Amino acid sequence: MGKVRVTFLPLNKTIEVDEKDYPFGDHGLPGSILDIALANGIDLEHNCGGNCACTTCHVIVKEGMESLSPMEDDEEDRLDMAEGLTLRSRLGCQAVVRGDVVVEIPD
Ligand code: FES
Repeated sequence: MGKVRVTFLPLNKTIEVDEKDYPFGDHGLPGSILDIALANGIDLEHNCGGNCACTTCHVIVKEGMESLSPMEDDEEDRLDMAEGLTLRSRLGCQAVVRGDVVVEIPD
């Protein structure tokens, strides 16, 4: 537990949060990329409210893949439907931040 930094591209905005403050809101898993984004004014879409039921919170992890919680089957199945899927894709509402990461929000 400690401070972690999440950088959002293409905004190039870095947010530092403390894991002890999780959760920040009620969208997505506590401490997820979505949770952190919404608490800090980052516009990450979340049509299903952070319930792993859409793909609008899709992000591409540029750095720190190992700093995120492992992917569960639900997320993997859902992610398969994401537009522009990559090997470094995650759902922002399901990926919990445990260390520094850089993520890109696709168009
Ligand atoms: S907000 Fe719908 S899957 Fe993440």
